[in-house]
Amino acid sequence: MCGIVGVLGAHEVAPVILDALKRLEYRGYDSAGIATIHEGALERRRATGKLINLQDLLVREPLRGFAGIGHTRWATHGVPSVENAHPHRSGPVAVVHNGIIENFRELRDELIAAGAKFTSETDTETIVHLANKHLADGMPPVAAARATLGRLEGAFALAFLFEGEEDLLIAARRGSPLVIGHGEGEMYVGSDAIALAPLTDKLTYLEEGDWAAITRSAVQVFDASAVQVDRPIATIAVESATVDKSGHRHFMAKEMAEQPSIIQKALAAYTNEADGILNLPEGVQFNDIRRVVMVACGTAFYACQVAKYWFEQIARIPVEIDIASEFRYRDPVLERDDLLIVVSQSGETADTLAALRHVAGHVRRTLAVVNVPTSSIAREADVVMPILAGPEIGVASTKAFTAQLLSLLLLAAKAGLDRGKMNADDLTTLMSEIQAAPGLMSQALDRAQEYARIAEELAESDDVLFLGRGAMFPMALEAALKLKEISYIHAEAYAAGELKHGPIALIDKTLPVVIFAPRDVLFEKTISNMQEVMARHGQVILLTDADGAKLAGEVQNVIVMPKAPTIVAPLIYAIPAQMLAYNTALARGTDVDQPRNLAKSVTVE
Ligand code: F6R
Repeated sequence: MCGIVGVLGAHEVAPVILDALKRLEYRGYDSAGIATIHEGALERRRATGKLINLQDLLVREPLRGFAGIGHTRWATHGVPSVENAHPHRSGPVAVVHNGIIENFRELRDELIAAGAKFTSETDTETIVHLANKHLADGMPPVAAARATLGRLEGAFALAFLFEGEEDLLIAARRGSPLVIGHGEGEMYVGSDAIALAPLTDKLTYLEEGDWAAITRSAVQVFDASAVQVDRPIATIAVESATVDKSGHRHFMAKEMAEQPSIIQKALAAYTNEADGILNLPEGVQFNDIRRVVMVACGTAFYACQVAKYWFEQIARIPVEIDIASEFRYRDPVLERDDLLIVVSQSGETADTLAALRHVAGHVRRTLAVVNVPTSSIAREADVVMPILAGPEIGVASTKAFTAQLLSLLLLAAKAGLDRGKMNADDLTTLMSEIQAAPGLMSQALDRAQEYARIAEELAESDDVLFLGRGAMFPMALEAALKLKEISYIHAEAYAAGELKHGPIALIDKTLPVVIFAPRDVLFEKTISNMQEVMARHGQVILLTDADGAKLAGEVQNVIVMPKAPTIVAPLIYAIPAQMLAYNTALARGTDVDQPRNLAKSVTVE
């Protein structure tokens, strides 16, 4: 959600910043901009739309200079326009910003009264005017930045650049992540390690409330109470190759295709090769807790919804789940022997992070199931279970979803063992079913032509309904979310049994209804609901296995999935949920990896 970069270089920095912004574009792509200092003078270029527009502008109007900052925007305050694009500038100060300044109205009124001329609708512009005012009052740049930060409320990450100061960047982190990169005679700032991947692997993560004065030869970090602190330099290798599409048309296609091998690798990492016994991170234990509370947003929440079935079934433990933005404001009843599990691909989602902070200290333990082990959520939770999916760049989450599912299933198995609901034989059986998942996922991916054929039909529709029972209900929810996100077709999902309580009114011959119905104990019930749809001329697309297809009778469209053990079926049926959305988006010609209005890593409330 907005990407920021800063470079104090030994060479021209505009191309380096542009390249780093390309790796951050998944965080927002409404507009982009770069500011540099050349021969003491501050200059900037900004363009609306994708980064390519800024790149074209820079060809026509190049930016010189060895120091600069850059930004790729996901609009919060103000429409995507050149005026609202970052870097913002007032006199000698330029700033790039990720997050929200909550008290910007009050600051804006104050600054306007003092004579400042605003040229944008953004909250960010208050920062540059404030800093400029402090400079005009005679403060040197570092003091002006510090005084400015002292006035800001909200959650943000910032980088300041000052005219005439070719060896100074100020970086600040409050609520939104920021990392400092240490190069050879160069220094960098970025929203995440991926932005800096080809430049350096020596990284300093700023802690909450930190700000830093950075020169090419030194970094001084101050904490929220203005005390100078030592923050370690860690060597964290993030392969820049992971941000390549590796021959695929889209990141989403690459990430979907990677799923079997990711699940295989995560399984290998979390089981002992010799005896197949679970080998989960230290601190993962369930023998001292009485309830699991799971909190997440979006796709990660649907993973929690599947996991609720698993925890209840395998470990017989009560589970409560909620979306983070509701959970944190509803004053939830928490008990000392609760375990909070937060699930987040990015580990930076503002609502999920806030939920974690809300609960910390009130429950026995907090456990973060995250993809980014250096993320804020990972750093603040008591125990971390990395899902090991590797960087996910496609805005619509795919491989992180199935990797979250696998981690949660292994946690449910551990809970079953710790609580004496499963013995060693049960675990062996369960693990052999889980081991089958990667192969079955590959088979599910193999039905490319069928997905494409059905997608041609979905692409013609204005609305699509998805149905499922049990753990297939969250699959239906995830399928509807994926379709909405990348094809912009309105989609809804219901527990199949809920159909007759209202949504059945929607059904007519124009409505495609996608039904998730593996041949399991709920199959007959789901098929009865399917009959209700067909009796009203709804266009059924049935996702089932070969046994289910035989028993389902005459259906307009069936995609035959591989036969999967019930416990791992969600991992297998996630594939058609994703592939139908992907192929529909292709058929409609939408922007699969960067769908409109969205961004990855939602660091604002
Ligand atoms: C959907 C999607 C989002 C995220 C949600 C949570 O495809 O990607 O719904 O799942 O924004 O993000 P994380 O997992 O980073 O907390």
